[in-house]
Amino acid sequence: MSTALSTPAAPAPATAPASPAWRERFPDALEPLAAVVGADLKAPLVDGREVRYANLDYAASAPALAEVATHLFEVLPFYASVHRGAGYASQVSTSVYESARSAVRRFVRARPDDAVVFTRNTTDSLNLLAGCVPEGADVLYLDIEHHANLLPWQRRAHRSVTAAPTIAETLGRLESELAAGGVALLAVTGASNVTGEVLPLAQLAALAHAHGARIAVDAAQLAPHRRITAAPEDERTAIDYLAFSGHKLYAPFGAGVLVGRPDWLDAGRPHLAGGGAVREVRLESASWALGAARHEAGSPNVLGAAALARAAQALGALDPDAWHRHEQQLREALASGLEGIRGVRVHRLFADSLDAIGVVNFSVDAYDAGLVAAFLSAEHGVGLRDGRFCAHPLLARLGLPSGSLRASFGLGSRLEDVERLLAGVAQLTERGPGIDYTVDEGRWVPARDTRPFPSWAPNTPGTAGAAPCASAD
Ligand SMILES: Cc1ncc(COP(=O)(O)O)c(C=O)c1O
Repeated sequence: MSTALSTPAAPAPATAPASPAWRERFPDALEPLAAVVGADLKAPLVDGREVRYANLDYAASAPALAEVATHLFEVLPFYASVHRGAGYASQVSTSVYESARSAVRRFVRARPDDAVVFTRNTTDSLNLLAGCVPEGADVLYLDIEHHANLLPWQRRAHRSVTAAPTIAETLGRLESELAAGGVALLAVTGASNVTGEVLPLAQLAALAHAHGARIAVDAAQLAPHRRITAAPEDERTAIDYLAFSGHKLYAPFGAGVLVGRPDWLDAGRPHLAGGGAVREVRLESASWALGAARHEAGSPNVLGAAALARAAQALGALDPDAWHRHEQQLREALASGLEGIRGVRVHRLFADSLDAIGVVNFSVDAYDAGLVAAFLSAEHGVGLRDGRFCAHPLLARLGLPSGSLRASFGLGSRLEDVERLLAGVAQLTERGPGIDYTVDEGRWVPARDTRPFPSWAPNTPGTAGAAPCASAD
């Protein structure tokens, strides 16, 4: 079924999910493309059984690549202060931290003089950049953005543009706004965290540059799925700033990054005031460092940076064709499988988008998204995201004020995860849930939930599953 922003009704799958013919259709999706930590995690069900956890929530936080975890155990014995010690371990840690910048620069094929600033996450990176855009000019953004690429700009002179039903028309709207003048920066997402659709970055960059503006790309969702080139041969299509998070890039150890042209960053207000960001301090004033150090006050997150760098290296070494086939087959199986279930709507933003990452957004008629997510977890061992995905303006405009569901996947995913989701959704639409559910503190939960947590993990009532930006009030 389709809505204004749904896919034109796709033909129902010719073969049933999980049948041998269906599996033959998606040969490159049968196995994970890379080993991740927790691949065989068991999830308890409310009926007392245990199943392999089907993690379809990579877009929120992806599991660690096994290679990243192994590397961290290599680094840990050398873990010591960074930039602050003459000891051997401090020197090794400092070298690990500083060389992580080059790995990130290589990963996004940036300019040799681009700054690589380690932050906490994408949100932190974009807030940092917002503090460095020269005063007196506007920042332009679309209404489809994640709050992280929207709220930092609202704190300064800004203009927003409502995305049109097609990418072509949206580019036209952006061009008119840029042509009006006074825009210093166009801030766009590389791929929608709501629907997974990829934006035409080369065209957007060329548009911005043609009107004297720079472009910042929120690559939180794009970087884990596509190779990005910040500095292509054609300078007109270059990306000036890129922000992304380790925890979505298979490196969940608390680091994010901002990569980009150094001039604004060197002239901007230091993101944090404190040790390491200064050259000289007097009692009433200070002279601030230039480069990444200017924005990285305090002891840096060496393990986070090491993990991010190793993940970037691992993604950079993937065979691009195999990566593409794995992801596209999983996506096709997921989207066509959902569209083949009566009462399910798959959502998209643009009628003319040609590319999408491993994210599929959908609703099940007659069921609240939160209930569907609770049911899939409790009765099928599937983890996915429901709510408004920290994109309130978009969800409101899409006519989904109470939210929808988002299934997302990546390198550790396999067709069986998708089949489990489809079987669960089909069961729900045909027979309804097998147990009672209730709303507890604004969140759907099984009326009686007997699923145990691991003995070492405290189960604090009312906290599990509380979604950020979910409540509509
Ligand atoms: C497109 C996009 N931008 C920014 C963010 C914020 O990322 P973080 O929470 O790592 O700061 C997210 C997180 O979901 C996202 O999907």
